[in-house]
Amino acid sequence: MCENNKWDSSQIRNYDLDLQPIPRLHYKDPKVDELMKTNQPVLLSGSNIAKPAVDKWTLEYLEENLGKCGHTVYVSKTHKFKYFNREKILSKANPKGVEFTSETKSVEMKVSDFMKKLKEWKQGDDRLYLQQSLNSSVGSAIVKDFMGFEWRYVTEKKIRHGWGELSANLLFIAMEGNCTPCHYDEQENLFAQIKGFKRCILFPPDQFECLYPHPVYHPHDRQSMVDFDEPDYIKFPKFKNVKGFETVVGPGDVLYIPIYWWHHIESLLADGPTVTVNFWYKGGPSCLEYPLKDDQKVSIMRNVEKMLLEVLQDPKEVGPLLRTILLGRYVDVQSFENIQ
Ligand code: FUM
Ligand code: FE
Repeated sequence: MCENNKWDSSQIRNYDLDLQPIPRLHYKDPKVDELMKTNQPVLLSGSNIAKPAVDKWTLEYLEENLGKCGHTVYVSKTHKFKYFNREKILSKANPKGVEFTSETKSVEMKVSDFMKKLKEWKQGDDRLYLQQSLNSSVGSAIVKDFMGFEWRYVTEKKIRHGWGELSANLLFIAMEGNCTPCHYDEQENLFAQIKGFKRCILFPPDQFECLYPHPVYHPHDRQSMVDFDEPDYIKFPKFKNVKGFETVVGPGDVLYIPIYWWHHIESLLADGPTVTVNFWYKGGPSCLEYPLKDDQKVSIMRNVEKMLLEVLQDPKEVGPLLRTILLGRYVDVQSFENIQ
């Protein structure tokens, strides 16, 4: 797997997973479109998609040119940065949310303070992960680089494959070893690696049952409940059967992560900080053609959960109601109890 000999297997974390390699193709290879058309991941090599950034975005350059405003930085005591949705947390403004304390905090930080902490970091300190939308607050040099991206190529993919509007370009600056645990997004993602290496583990939408997402009303909506470092096979027995794909992206590579595909992403160990820019496109209009695709089924499940929450008005009632629908009718109670 170590195609470019720039890293070795001691730099990736060890998980007991059944994984196949994601195809790596030259970005102009016609097979790229075949894969994208059928919502399969593909690693694009040899492109100029984010070339100005790959050529120029050292940490010093980013510090100088990202702008003086505060940036969103996540802080974690461990290597894991599990995303949470603030709006789903119980508060006076949101009495229907759920009780929750996150292991990851988000703070506003100037890029100079962030870079200083990165340089001074030692084992045992909190880890940091900058995740900031590239917006009008960035300096003119970054804007110029950004305009020099190969927009013709990415826009052609958007049109050809019927994706919706570009919703954001997110900049990620991670410490080595940082990990974004397994989750899916409701967006198409072109994930452009700028600096350093990231291991990306992907699972198709049909692996839903093996990955046990949190309920939609939970702040960790769309995130797997399974901790890959210490999977609880009693609580999550089907995780043993999960089947997925993996690759390692390096500078200049662009990974297509299809909408609703699960992804777990980790910056390699002992390799210094990594920089990534992603292109998030909204999903295109979906027409119901039978048989339904797995991503459409995930979308339907989300809508059913949301609808129940809306009418029941209490997250705690959703599970029991679903259980009542299922048990003794669609599922035999005995076999259900066995898998608890
Ligand atoms: O850490 C990451 O690079 C995560 C990216 C994503 O979830 O899209
Ligand atoms: Fe994601």
